Amino acid sequence: MKILLLGSGGREHSLAWKIAQSTKTEKLFIAPGNAGTANIGENVSIQVDDFLSLKTFVLEQHIDMIVVGPEDPLVKGIYDEFKNDEKTKHIAIIGPSKAGAVLEGSKDFAKAFMLRHNIPTARYRTFNASEIKEAFAFLETLKAPYVLKADGLCAGKGVLILQTLEEAKQELKGMLDGMFGNASAKVVIEEFLSGIECSVFVLTDGKNYKILPEAKDYKRIGEHDTGLNTGGMGSISPVPFATEEWMKKVEERIIRPTIQGLAAEKIDYKGFIFFGLINVEGEPMVIEYNCRMGDPETESVMLRIKSDIVDLFEGVAEGNLNQRPIIFDERTAVCVMLVSGGYPQSYQKGYIINGLDQVRDSIVFHSGTAFSEGKIVTAGGRVLAVSSYGKDKEEALRKSFEEANKIQFTDKYFRSDIGQDL
Ligand code: AMP
Ligand code: GLY
Repeated sequence: MKILLLGSGGREHSLAWKIAQSTKTEKLFIAPGNAGTANIGENVSIQVDDFLSLKTFVLEQHIDMIVVGPEDPLVKGIYDEFKNDEKTKHIAIIGPSKAGAVLEGSKDFAKAFMLRHNIPTARYRTFNASEIKEAFAFLETLKAPYVLKADGLCAGKGVLILQTLEEAKQELKGMLDGMFGNASAKVVIEEFLSGIECSVFVLTDGKNYKILPEAKDYKRIGEHDTGLNTGGMGSISPVPFATEEWMKKVEERIIRPTIQGLAAEKIDYKGFIFFGLINVEGEPMVIEYNCRMGDPETESVMLRIKSDIVDLFEGVAEGNLNQRPIIFDERTAVCVMLVSGGYPQSYQKGYIINGLDQVRDSIVFHSGTAFSEGKIVTAGGRVLAVSSYGKDKEEALRKSFEEANKIQFTDKYFRSDIGQDL
């Protein structure tokens, strides 16, 4: 099979690593990819939302399957674009339709969907600029801290958590006045939930589903979860509190009603669903849905899937995912993210990365890297994901930290407390 993978981060490098291991993969292209994916397949210089150029490319190259990494092309309707075109409708797309991607693209839709299908989530209401009085009144019924969410996509920056009612009202006004442009024309206000978060991933063909290994990610820049939010500083799988009993609750109360709800609402969904969950006194609740895999969770999760992922993707495309086995690797997998100094605020790019050839015991996935004059250089805030296996998390983390120290670039930073809270 000829496969085109869309995206350019650590998530995509780890997906590419897994896809390339399949005997079913004849040729793998990554658009646009990064310096790491260039070692596994062939990078193609096309942007993920340039549907016209992508169509031309897949027809020229006789691509059989497109695996979509990030949410952007899904929310913009890549699935529908290809399926509604006679010339490209035969190509399998791993990713939901535009209507399905709304689970991530609109927080208001996601919350209403959960309410319709009785899926446990925080109490909420949605308001627009003309309803500011009602919104203030609703805020007054809640206890601090206050959670405000821009309805639309904001590259992970659209959620504000405020400690006082005064601040919450001020920020709410700012959001409705266009702080995030059109994305905050509507704002979801919800009850604050207290607990530990866990990311659960499902692959579905719209009817059948497979639960993938769960993971925990580390969002804050500083040790012990301090400082600013980032795209993710590391991940670990399995998650100790995601016991068989807890996962059974997740499946019965959250996963099954979601898949059945999508089907009942005639929403075409063939791809990944990422359930951002929180464990509230032993009970799982949904914080958010994403229509894709997580980053940096994928850089641990891919290590824990023993089965052929292309076989699973074929099951998604053919609607017979129930006939495809999924086998987990029993070992622990972790990922430690090496980032540019200054991230998530301003940072320099273009520093030469040394020591990659010294790494022995980890798998290094590239996140923000590029080639410059024949050398691999930093090209983003999150630069490299150092992923390792271990018989337990201590062993896996020890490997990742040891190998992380062999890799050098100016102002390299990583969190050395990944997994310590578990
Ligand atoms: P989201 O973009 O919806 O994942 O939100 C970003 C982060 O905000 C989440 O990962 C949580 O840490 C936090 N968060 C969102 N909603 C809530 C909530 N209702 N209660 C507590 N924390 C929340
Ligand atoms: N790690 C969280 C995300 O990918 O959104």
